[in-house]
Amino acid sequence: MWTRLSVLMQMTIVSLTLAQTPPKAGDAALGTQAYDRFERPQACATCHVDIARQHEQAMMSQAYVHHWDEIEYFELALPHSLKEPKVAGVKAGCNGCHAPLAFLAGDIPPKPPADNTRANEAVSCDVCHTMTGFAGETPVNFNYIVSPGKVKYGPRPGLVSPHHETRENAYLRSAEFCGACHNEQDPWGLYVKATHLEWKEGPHGKAGIVCQDCHMPPAAGRSATMGQALPDVRQHLFHGAHDLGKLTGVAEVRIHPESREAEPGETVKLIAVVVNAKAGHKIPTGSAEERVLWLHVEATDAQGRTFHLPVDRKGFAGEEFTIASETALAYQDIGDIKDIPNFAGLKRDGNVPAGDRIFRMPYLDPKGRMTIAQWNTASFGVDYRLAPLQAVTETYSWKLPQEIAAGPVKITAKIFYSRLVSSVAEYLHVPAEEYQTVPIGEHTTTFNAL
Ligand code: HEC
Ligand code: HEC
Ligand code: HEC
Ligand code: HEC
Ligand code: HEC
Repeated sequence: MWTRLSVLMQMTIVSLTLAQTPPKAGDAALGTQAYDRFERPQACATCHVDIARQHEQAMMSQAYVHHWDEIEYFELALPHSLKEPKVAGVKAGCNGCHAPLAFLAGDIPPKPPADNTRANEAVSCDVCHTMTGFAGETPVNFNYIVSPGKVKYGPRPGLVSPHHETRENAYLRSAEFCGACHNEQDPWGLYVKATHLEWKEGPHGKAGIVCQDCHMPPAAGRSATMGQALPDVRQHLFHGAHDLGKLTGVAEVRIHPESREAEPGETVKLIAVVVNAKAGHKIPTGSAEERVLWLHVEATDAQGRTFHLPVDRKGFAGEEFTIASETALAYQDIGDIKDIPNFAGLKRDGNVPAGDRIFRMPYLDPKGRMTIAQWNTASFGVDYRLAPLQAVTETYSWKLPQEIAAGPVKITAKIFYSRLVSSVAEYLHVPAEEYQTVPIGEHTTTFNAL
């Protein structure tokens, strides 16, 4: 009797301890799940055909094999992690978001993409659909809780599948689900990615318009070939900075002159208004250390001569980083990482014409120089990005040259975007499509030169 009771008591204690052991998440989940705990996307594709084809086209399925990701991890982050103790954690950490299977399996560093290991599956179906929540207060640094197995978690209750069990989990409908990988804190504790936090404090977050509403919009159809017809199947588009449709018009621009007439020698003031009306977070967001968004203003006189107009200075602290310069250098930490003595750096603003306004937030390395390495960021410069549903005005004070032709002067304001500063891309041999200049908005106005 006594023994049975004590065995029972011991069992209760054991199960209590088991229940209280918090599931491993974030750094602590390294090496906790073997590769074969996860099903391959091909296994899901037999029934979830459209979703599978969409996901293949989305960057998250390529987050490990994509050229620039491979270059940045293997040529910069990994060697840096091996020589600089402060950033040693990124050797494994990058993979927590880019190659979750390899991270969870403890296969660190993963083999390069050419070896075709399961790291290549990147952010796969089974990673997302076995997530049940996140650990802690804020979703950040891959602190998702994953429990791979027969049960696939989805947004709907009571579904039946021949291949797996399904269970509804509201977590998948939340922005926090995305935030676990779309917020990143670096070794200095800085939020070097804060897409979810930007969203949360912005108008979309306050209105409850989640990431899924813009990046996985609902359409009528079936989510599985043998599934039921539904009015609102979540499309797995996950389209962002690599999608022309998503980028086009993402920053709107309008420009007007203060006066419709001016004489040579007189100063004409032009006012441009730039709006972020499409994104639920800042633009650029996420990898803001790499992206370049800029406003270019030109005038063309009646004889077809063109003049490039530099933006007026506003005078705020750190503004020099937001106006393109012909001579400014940056990214000297690439020299430190690659052991290049006296590396002078690369052109800070790449191919952006000098005098153009750049909407950015500089990431500064421990020596205060602008960096492309978000994991090596010790401080930020001024945050001059476009906040959601807000407008920014820029002015151009242009003293009309004496040689200007009388007649209409056409002013054109154009917004351009590049996924990676061109100087860095060229230096590291990143394929051209990764940093090509994408035109995203344009407006023209006129005034008369007398
Ligand atoms: C980045 C994470 C992520 C990946 C990768 C992903 N999904 Fe999803 N999936 C979601 C989320 C989030 C939802 C629910 C969205 C909502 O309802 O707000 C969802 C919804 C679904 C649904 C239900 C759709 C509906 O509205 O009825 C199915 C089925 C599904 N996913 C299957 C897949 C398959 C198969 C793959 C791989 C080919 C995949 N998912 C990849 C996050 C993901
Ligand atoms: C043999 C076919 C088959 C395979 C293989 C399959 N599923 Fe499903 N799955 C279904 C069916 C059928 C449903 C229910 C659809 C319905 O009722 O509309 C479903 C539902 C789901 C749901 C719930 C969707 C929701 O709206 O909540 C998720 C999540 C899901 N599957 C994920 C996966 C993942 C991930 C894989 C691969 C690891 C996979 N499925 C493999 C047939 C399959
Ligand atoms: C109101 C619609 C809307 C909402 C809500 C929204 N986004 Fe976006 N998102 C966009 C648009 C438009 C772009 C294209 C602009 C860009 O790439 O900067 C974009 C771009 C992105 C990018 C690409 C950024 C880059 O530089 O690679 C990511 C990642 C992203 N969104 C994630 C999220 C996440 C995570 C959430 C929720 C926390 C979210 N989005 C909420 C509209 C939205
Ligand atoms: C397991 C981590 C993880 C989760 C969870 C996750 N993402 Fe991502 N996401 C990534 C990574 C890594 C990339 C970068 C892909 C690359 O290397 O270009 C990315 C890229 C993106 C992009 C950029 C695509 C482009 O064209 O540039 C969008 C949009 C996006 N995710 C949306 C979402 C949304 C919406 C959710 C939530 C429903 C989500 N993600 C959940 C890891 C994740
Ligand atoms: C907390 C999750 C997370 C961690 C950790 C992380 N990333 Fe990312 N990474 C993302 C997401 C999400 C995106 C894409 C969307 C964006 O711009 O935010 C991204 C984008 C990128 C891109 C740009 C991809 C493109 O196609 O333009 C590169 C390169 C990259 N990451 C490399 C790294 C390296 C190297 C590390 C480690 C030092 C790392 N990442 C750590 C989540 C993460």
